Amino acid sequence: MGKIILTGDRPTGRLHVGHYVGSLRRRVQLQNSGEFDKIFVMIADAQALTDNADNPEKVRQNVIEVALDYLSVGLDPEKTTIFVQTGVPELTELAFYYMNLVSVGRVQRNPTVKTEIKMRGFEQSIPMGFFSYPVSQASDITAFNATTVPAGEDQAPMIELTREIVGRFNNIYGPTLVEPEILLPENAVCMRLPGTDGKAKMSKSLGNCIYLSDTPKELAKKVKSMYTDPEHLTIDSPGHLEGNCPFIYLDAFSSDEQVARLLPDYKSLQELKDHYCRGGLGDGTVKKLLIAVLEEELAPIRERRKQWEQDIPAVYEILRKGTEKAREEAAKTLDRVREAMKINYFADEKLIAEQARKYAAK
Ligand code: TRP
Repeated sequence: MGKIILTGDRPTGRLHVGHYVGSLRRRVQLQNSGEFDKIFVMIADAQALTDNADNPEKVRQNVIEVALDYLSVGLDPEKTTIFVQTGVPELTELAFYYMNLVSVGRVQRNPTVKTEIKMRGFEQSIPMGFFSYPVSQASDITAFNATTVPAGEDQAPMIELTREIVGRFNNIYGPTLVEPEILLPENAVCMRLPGTDGKAKMSKSLGNCIYLSDTPKELAKKVKSMYTDPEHLTIDSPGHLEGNCPFIYLDAFSSDEQVARLLPDYKSLQELKDHYCRGGLGDGTVKKLLIAVLEEELAPIRERRKQWEQDIPAVYEILRKGTEKAREEAAKTLDRVREAMKINYFADEKLIAEQARKYAAK
């Protein structure tokens, strides 16, 4: 079946630069590498509803936002099938069967689920749908026979669970499903880009995100307010790099070529860092460099978004076509699953003949 990618995002907000360095940038590279036979990128609206059941309008509004972000970073619908999860009901059926193969305790120990339960205030009462989303994620992946799931570190427990489900399924019902692998960001800074406030993770609810669709003005304002080194009180005092947002972002976004071009006094990011640590380099200079670096990356994305925004019906049409194609693919897997699980009664002439013979012999 070849090398196949499946990955996706919940449509709960516009995508930010954390998504970009954590996964989106890589997806576009993989798409253009020609190394994959098929690539599926899913807008996980069903999963978004597992913790937004009371806010369907939020999910509905953000499907198009995520689609626009995908197209603007350079996902190409000719090469990548972009689709909407709820348009592929086969995924739900698969999940129902996979649930038989997973224990409650197994999901309770999932560190990502644990964190989310705390964040959502679900400790007292966990919705069943939310609790089972890791299993549904195994359906998303296996329905497309994905070999490769480019995603952030927080998704590792989901892929691990998927591999367990695949192992158990194939063991009980015979070889049917493909075991996927996670593809993590190449570099550690990109695993978990901090928010502009220096907090662990960029998150919409903390208001510390830089969005791919931010205007140049918004971008500059956010960078200027970034958390740096609280001990770096004057330009001359020695600075520290640990937890220093502009430097972390430069690690994730800049190349030495860019640093040397934009700040000709330095040959590399390392030289700039050394100067900062010695003292004599102000936060303002570093932030100005970061704004320029981010602009080089984000300006073309913003431009492409503007163009797609002029033709929203075409974007929905891309989603509709992609969803149709994804559904055909998932349906093929579901057929194989049903056959393996011996629930394909009406497609199995042998079964009908056998039962007929059994009763004829009575
Ligand atoms: N859990 C992912 C997120 O939080 C979205 C997602 C749903 C996904 N199904 C997936 C990611 C399958 C990778 C593979 O954004």
